[in-house]
Amino acid sequence: MYKISLKISTLILAFVMLTGYTHADEGMWLPMLVKRLNEADMKANGLKLTAEEIYSVNNSSLKDAIFGLGYGDPSWNFCTSEAISSEGLLLTNHHCAFDMIQNHSTVDNDYLTDGFWAKTMAEELPNPGITASVLVKMEDVTERIKKALDGLSLDEQAKKLEEIKAEIIAEHTKDTHYKGYVKDFFYGNEYYLFVSEVFLDVRLVGAPPSSIGKFGGDTDNWMWPRHTGDFSLLRVYAGKDGKPAEYSTENVPLKPKHSLPVSMKGVQQGDFAMVFGFPGGTQRFKTSYGLDVDYAVTNPARIKLRERRLALMKEQMDVDAATRIAYASKYASISNYYKYFIGQNAGLKRLKTIDKKRKEEKEYQIWADASGNEAYSTSLSRLDKAYSSSVDYSLWSAYWQEAFLGSEIVEFGANFLQLQKTLEAGVNEENQEQVDAAIEKLKEATKEHFAEYNATIDQNVTGTLLGMFYTDIDKQYHPEIFGRVAGENGGDFNKYAKVIFDNSAFASEEKTMQLLENPNAEVMAKDPVVQLITSVVEAYYGKVRPQLMVANEEIASAMKDYVAGLLVKNKGKKYYPDANSTLRLSYGNIKDYSPKDGVKYQYFTTLEGVAEKYIPEDDEFDAPKELLEMQMAKDYGKYADKDGTLHVGFITNNDITGGNSGSPVINGNGELIGLAFDGNWEAMTGDLVFDEQYKRCINVDIRYVLFCIDKLAGASHLIDEMNLVTAGKGKKSK
Ligand code: ARG
Repeated sequence: MYKISLKISTLILAFVMLTGYTHADEGMWLPMLVKRLNEADMKANGLKLTAEEIYSVNNSSLKDAIFGLGYGDPSWNFCTSEAISSEGLLLTNHHCAFDMIQNHSTVDNDYLTDGFWAKTMAEELPNPGITASVLVKMEDVTERIKKALDGLSLDEQAKKLEEIKAEIIAEHTKDTHYKGYVKDFFYGNEYYLFVSEVFLDVRLVGAPPSSIGKFGGDTDNWMWPRHTGDFSLLRVYAGKDGKPAEYSTENVPLKPKHSLPVSMKGVQQGDFAMVFGFPGGTQRFKTSYGLDVDYAVTNPARIKLRERRLALMKEQMDVDAATRIAYASKYASISNYYKYFIGQNAGLKRLKTIDKKRKEEKEYQIWADASGNEAYSTSLSRLDKAYSSSVDYSLWSAYWQEAFLGSEIVEFGANFLQLQKTLEAGVNEENQEQVDAAIEKLKEATKEHFAEYNATIDQNVTGTLLGMFYTDIDKQYHPEIFGRVAGENGGDFNKYAKVIFDNSAFASEEKTMQLLENPNAEVMAKDPVVQLITSVVEAYYGKVRPQLMVANEEIASAMKDYVAGLLVKNKGKKYYPDANSTLRLSYGNIKDYSPKDGVKYQYFTTLEGVAEKYIPEDDEFDAPKELLEMQMAKDYGKYADKDGTLHVGFITNNDITGGNSGSPVINGNGELIGLAFDGNWEAMTGDLVFDEQYKRCINVDIRYVLFCIDKLAGASHLIDEMNLVTAGKGKKSK
């Protein structure tokens, strides 16, 4: 992300406060600013709560029910979840818990296929490493940082920035168990401090079978109309004192400061809806110059490399059940963004996004030239130049990520380089303990790696992708080893992959463990994986990184000026910062749309559609027999809509992105009406630009979630934990 400098930040806020109208749908707003920026607009749209009931530091508020799912560091969350009972019950997506479900699955106990439901709390399954963090407070620290950096050179600023951040964090977390972090916004024009409480014991409570949780698979992924019951249940535990504690059977369910009441009332076209969660990243300020590179260079490369990798994985997954389970999560995440990049490029073309950006940039340039501000007026030409100079290196980086690190043996072997270097330099009394600890850690990593591994897949992927790296990347940027191994193997990288897999210690668990029993620097240095990595890393540091860094720094600095100018130019407009995995609120309405001329998509789907899409025994469109029977009998009990059908999904025009997965969709009374889980095909450019006409947020109707828990899983004890709100009954019914 782009960094430093601040000049106009407070001005922005001041302008923003005066402002006029923005559309309710666009924007991922910082909860702390909702009162100033959005409250009036939200009320006009149907919000019945006050801003204080949404975000408050002193009283319990909606934000206290929102938990980011991560790996210990609250500044990055892979998904969002929300408390729906006073016993720490968390709701999130099936695809967010997918990895956890997979880790607990075996061929005999296949929770991916069959689903999993803990009958008692004692049966809930721990997930070491997974954390759930909740925001305690946030603060604007822009002024303080600005002051500290004032008058310093760029280098000094970078150093000072880290110091002052650490100082601020220490002050705000002193004598607490909280974790703090400071992030920059608007490309270094503003800074905010966040203080979070990070819970360390998160257990799997329940998940539907994939034929519900992933119904429609990759075919329906990123698309509406949708019939996926994309939900799972977790529970967050704490020590007896209510504070975060590592997993222990002594731990007790956390009593969250707030949990969301669950609405049984259903939704209507036009209803107010807000989504609260942790969107991971957007690039809404990205210029045409950056988009040109994405569109023509890096996206096509990512698509091509992922396509090959997925095909090679699928080949083996289809013939072996253990492999299918072992690779389920890897496959889903590679294919998710494979389709994302395809959709993004198709959207860039169809919506003429780059042309539209160019037009805006032309207007900006005219304004900037007239402004007399050199930073503004040169920013776009600087971006143009920097992006042009970065093309080869950006492509190389894409191949590094998708092809080189797409090889599992490479990614795994890279963990051993540090040990190899340390051993080479010599082990003595001083570092013996450290080395031993490192070896122990590597043993753990080895077990984990091989628990989900198929060497045939990896050998095929490694050979194929390295071959593509060799052919597609300009020779001048090749690692030195490419010439040699291509020569030895007649240009055939599959042959080279065979050499690697026949000779590397990292090809099997036994050999890796043997190596770790008798670690030897010389043996390691000769390992073909170590040699490959060393050579590719050398090429990266020698031929790629220096130029890429120069370009990226220039892009960051020019973006700062460009965005600063943009905020001044459009001073009547309310701006929200790009998503960066911090807590955000988005608000809008339940809203249908027209994907193309002559076609209208209604705002909800029903169980009838599951039956329509059903294909027996199909990977993606199989459905549970009992579900289909209930559909035939129309036996939905209290979960039926007033139209008599069971609503499965609905759409809103809320502004969300990856990381928002699992976020609650909340009505004007602060009650849970759905669970956000996807974006739609017509707006796959959504991370780059918000398209009002097409952008929709795809959600599971909460009544379908409850129906699956109650009627299919028979886990009514979980429903009993919740606070269900029915029409006319005011706030409570149990
Ligand atoms: N598109 C969804 C998201 O990014 C993920 C859906 C996962 N399902 C799949 N078939 N890969 O949040």
